[in-house]
Amino acid sequence: MASSQTLTTLFIFSLLTISYAATDPFKLTKQTNIHFPIRKNQTSLQYYTTFEAGNPQSRTKVDALIDLGAQTVFFDCQPYVSSSYKRAACRSNRCKKALGSVCLWCNSTPRPGCFNNSCGVNAFNPLTGAFAELELGEDTVRVTSSDGHSIRLNYDVPKFQFLCAYLYVNVLYDLPGSNTAKGLVGLARTQVSLVSQISSLFSVAKKFALCIPSDKGLGDIFIGGGPYYMPPRTEDQSLNLSSTLLVINPVRTSPVSAYGEASDDYFINVKTIEIDGKRVSFNSSLLSIDSNGVGGTMISTVVPYTTLHSSIYEPLVKDFVKVAAVDGIKRVASVAPFGACFDAKTAPKTIAGPAVPDIDLVLEGKTIVRFKMYGSNTMVEAKKNVICLAFVDGGAEPRTSIVLGGHQLENRVLEFDLAASKLGFTNSLLILNTTCSQHRQS
Ligand SMILES: *[C@@H]1O[C@H](CO)[C@@H](O)[C@H](O)[C@H]1NC(C)=O
Ligand SMILES: *[C@@H]1O[C@H](CO)[C@@H](O)[C@H](O)[C@H]1NC(C)=O
Ligand SMILES: *[C@@H]1O[C@H](CO)[C@@H](O)[C@H](O)[C@H]1NC(C)=O
Ligand SMILES: *[C@@H]1O[C@H](CO)[C@@H](O)[C@H](O)[C@H]1NC(C)=O
Ligand SMILES: *[C@@H]1O[C@H](CO)[C@@H](O)[C@H](O)[C@H]1NC(C)=O
Repeated sequence: MASSQTLTTLFIFSLLTISYAATDPFKLTKQTNIHFPIRKNQTSLQYYTTFEAGNPQSRTKVDALIDLGAQTVFFDCQPYVSSSYKRAACRSNRCKKALGSVCLWCNSTPRPGCFNNSCGVNAFNPLTGAFAELELGEDTVRVTSSDGHSIRLNYDVPKFQFLCAYLYVNVLYDLPGSNTAKGLVGLARTQVSLVSQISSLFSVAKKFALCIPSDKGLGDIFIGGGPYYMPPRTEDQSLNLSSTLLVINPVRTSPVSAYGEASDDYFINVKTIEIDGKRVSFNSSLLSIDSNGVGGTMISTVVPYTTLHSSIYEPLVKDFVKVAAVDGIKRVASVAPFGACFDAKTAPKTIAGPAVPDIDLVLEGKTIVRFKMYGSNTMVEAKKNVICLAFVDGGAEPRTSIVLGGHQLENRVLEFDLAASKLGFTNSLLILNTTCSQHRQS
């Protein structure tokens, strides 16, 4: 049992911690970052985070789809009540920073999302293709810091910029949020994305890391850099990243960007694809981005399974089936939308999923770097005892040749360093006997 002296010391210590945070709220101690959880909805295959917005007496809980390429944060303001909410005026500096495009008017009682002469910014729903001009507002949001292991302190960050959906709520259809407000958080390089706002408010490095879970566990968004711990492993994963360049597509890939603007999506330079070390043969000009912004490889947390140009998809499936057959893996009838499925009993389970041929993306780097994918990232159980190659045919004329999707990103640390324009990544955490599903309660 703890002595009363220890308890008193602990009590004083926690008082000190709180008052330190209160006097200097936006200064993080060294080796600390800002943390948001990631959840996966197993039905919709969406990845989303949760946060609270509004003044402390009336916070609204928001579930927000994680969208790497989105410029802003937006959510449903119908249930939103907050006395500290302030809308941005049309043509104000705040409005320009958020790339506001129109002035909005509202005929009913003034409330968040319904003010006159307010700044309208485009919000895009990548699941339905809908977009709408929403009122730019600001309010307090609650965020938490972490030491890479567990959650440390809460901060009520004022003047967080977001779009408030009250008039045009159709843009929210299909977004996560069943008992909460529906929303979306963008992680693009723009000034009003979640990453840019948090990193500048806390004066931390302009980088973020994702660890995307495959199951019901909680994954991570870390903003501001390492450390990233994945218990039971004891080492800091931020010190063991392979890296490749992040490439900017000079032509917009989202309908809400202005003409002439570069794309907000994150692209990487895939040089070749290998199956068990053997190169898949296809026209490699599909891997570069042409002057119209067509081609190349984009990373998406919104697309559940990697989508490939038909001219890459077809040889990939053909080669995979061939190598699998040599390994004694029995092919069975396909289950849509997948093109190659197998009898799960013929691919024994390993620590990193079913024992199937490895698929590697060979990337541009100082030396050759490989984004290795084992069975857990390449296969999906489509029905009982049937596993399918978890890639989808994107047709003969997709805008982007490879869209690297969620299933292929799960259970590894991916660090987007915006200042250095680099993507750092670990191997599959499963190989290290851990996962992205962590319990980071303090
Ligand atoms: C998961 O997604 C399904 C389908 O979109 C939805 O009906 C359900 O409410 C979601 N579950 C949660 C916990 O958000
Ligand atoms: C906005 O202005 C219109 C007319 O200009 C007025 O009818 C309306 O009540 C105002 N709405 C708000 C929210 O102030
Ligand atoms: C590869 O594709 C490019 C553009 O799609 C085309 O111009 C070129 O002729 C193709 N090369 C071969 C060898 O098919
Ligand atoms: C670092 O990464 C390499 C390659 O992904 C892996 O083999 C090694 O086990 C990792 N080391 C640690 C300490 O995590
Ligand atoms: C993972 O666990 C297995 C068995 O539990 C063990 O044999 C293996 O050495 C472990 N691997 C690593 C990288 O710790």
